[in-house]
Amino acid sequence: MALERIDKILTNQNIATRSQAKALIKAGKVYANGKQVKKPEEKYDPDTAEIIADGKSLTVKKHLYIMMNKPSGVLSASRDKYAETVIDLLPPELQRKGLFPAGRLDKDTEGLLIITDDGELAHKMLAPKSHVYKLYEAVIDRPLTDDDCTQFKNGLSFGEIQFLPAVLQIKDSHTALVEICEGKFHQVKKMFNAVGANVTHLKRLRIGGVYLDNNLKSGECRELTDREILDLLDKSQDFP
Ligand code: URA
Repeated sequence: MALERIDKILTNQNIATRSQAKALIKAGKVYANGKQVKKPEEKYDPDTAEIIADGKSLTVKKHLYIMMNKPSGVLSASRDKYAETVIDLLPPELQRKGLFPAGRLDKDTEGLLIITDDGELAHKMLAPKSHVYKLYEAVIDRPLTDDDCTQFKNGLSFGEIQFLPAVLQIKDSHTALVEICEGKFHQVKKMFNAVGANVTHLKRLRIGGVYLDNNLKSGECRELTDREILDLLDKSQDFP
């Protein structure tokens, strides 16, 4: 149980700025566990305290989990001096300290990106030994062959890099679905390089049991549902 200052809890939940939170407390408009809060320094457990601020009951969420349909051309990093990042694309109500993209996509890759401040869940989702599969759609610069599928299944290597067995399913002559449970740098592109092909377009469609919401236009995002948060660690595959 980690206690936090009440003004910090209100700020972290985007209820008020730090100074607005202090003003609300001073005006006697904040209650915690049934008692009026007297000072901003008072500490409560953000996971369990029942807080009412300015007449509104507050369900405190420890972490935030956001699904974004990442556009091509935007960096999946928290902040960058020069380039636009996925965090810059978040609407003000979802901006919160400590958010980072869990499982980066290349600048020119689009599709499903999870943004969170939960480092533990991100680690579990990304560690190869967790066997959480990520599904990509890749467009390739040459016709795909059954031999490509066999090579992906047997486990490819590119230079010094060895990849775990992966599933390649041909959709049409130049388009394939690829399932991997690792996240090595430029992994899908390098796997195709290993079979003498280049990726011309890459989109992530699924992580664990969570699919990209088709209603999200490029650059849009929404919070994950409670079910989806659990499903992020689902180990199932589309093409076992
Ligand atoms: N593999 C890649 O090559 N790039 C990505 O962005 C994701 C997976």
